[in-house]
Amino acid sequence: MNTGRSARRDAWTRFWQTGALHSLAGSFQGNYAGAIRAFWEAAFAPLGADDRVLDIGTGNGPLPALLCELRADDMPQVDAIDLASPDPAWLASTPAGCRNRIRFHSGRAAEDTGFPEACFTLVASQYGIEYSDLKRSVTEVARITADRGRLALVVHHASSRLAQVANAEVRLIDWLGAPGGLMERAAAIYPYMAMAARGERERLAADPDAARARAAFNAAMQSLDRLAAGEAFPDALFDARGQIAARIDALIRGAMDADAAAAAHARHVDALHDARLRSQELVAHALDEAGCEDFLRSLRGSGFTDARAAPLHHDPHLVGWSILGTRIR
Ligand SMILES: C[S@@+](CC[C@H](N)C(=O)[O-])C[C@H]1O[C@@H](n2cnc3c(N)ncnc32)[C@H](O)[C@@H]1O
Repeated sequence: MNTGRSARRDAWTRFWQTGALHSLAGSFQGNYAGAIRAFWEAAFAPLGADDRVLDIGTGNGPLPALLCELRADDMPQVDAIDLASPDPAWLASTPAGCRNRIRFHSGRAAEDTGFPEACFTLVASQYGIEYSDLKRSVTEVARITADRGRLALVVHHASSRLAQVANAEVRLIDWLGAPGGLMERAAAIYPYMAMAARGERERLAADPDAARARAAFNAAMQSLDRLAAGEAFPDALFDARGQIAARIDALIRGAMDADAAAAAHARHVDALHDARLRSQELVAHALDEAGCEDFLRSLRGSGFTDARAAPLHHDPHLVGWSILGTRIR
C-alpha cells in the first residue's frame, strides 16, 4: 500500500468529501467548542476587514467558518490552504459578504505556499501545520507573515487524549485487518448467509466449509469482545462489529446479496485503511515536550521572537498545545 505523501493527501481528500467540518467530528458536533473555540475567539478578536489571514491545513475550513460567525461585519480576507482537496459544503450557504472573502486552495503545502512575502497579518492553523515538515514550513511562515503579524496555532500534543485514542485506533484496526482476523472471517461467511436467506439450508448443512467459516467467524467475534473489555478506547472495535452485523442482518433479510455485501465489505476495509492512516499521522506528528521546545526554538530563530506554548485543556482532557507568536522583521 502506498503510504507516501500522495496516499496521505488522497486519504484526507476522501475524508473531507464525507462532509465533516473538522477532523474531530466525533468529539465536537458543529464547529470546535470550549477551550479550542475560546482560543480562536481571542486570536480573531483584533481582526478587521484590512487584515489578511492564512489558515494552514484548513480541511473543510472550521477556522474560516468560525471567522464568518465571529467577524461577519468586518470579515478579513482569508486564504485557506491544504495539501489535500477540501470540500467545504458550508461555504455555499454562507452570506456573500463572508464567502467572497474566503479562498480555498487545494494541493497547497505549508512548506511552499506560493504567497508573496510579508502578506499575512495572522497565520493560523488548527491541527494542521504539525503535519508538514516543520523546518521548511517555519521558514515559509516567517517569509509570508507581515511585520508585527501574529501566529496562532493549536497543534496536537503527544500526551493528549486524542493521541491516545489515535494510538488505540491504529492498533485495533491492525487487529481487525490481520490475516485470519475479524474482517477476513466476516467476508468468508457472507456467501453462506446469502444461501441461508435463499432457503438453501440443506446444502448449507452438508457443507463443511460453511460450518468452518461460521465457527471461525464466531471465534473472531468472541475475541473481539474479550479484547474490547480490556481496552480504554474500544470504539474502533464496536464500530467494525456494528457494520459487520448490519451487513449480516441485511443478508439474512434478503435485503442484500452476497456480491453487494462483498462490495460493502471492501468499502469498509478501505475506510479502515484511511482511518488508520489519519490516526497514524496524528500520532506521528503530535509534539511531545521536546518536540514543542524544538518548534518554539525554530520559530524564535525565524523572527517570531516571543513564540510561546501552553498545554490546552478541554473538559478536563489535554487536547493540544496552543502556540502564539509575533513576527518581528
Ligand atoms: C487533522 S486535519 C485538520 C484540518 C482542519 N484544520 C481541522 O481542524 O479540522 C490536518 C490537515 O492538514 C493537511 N495537511 C497535511 N500535510 C500538510 C501540508 N504539508 N501542508 C498543508 N496541509 C497539510 C491534511 O491534508 C489535513 O487536511
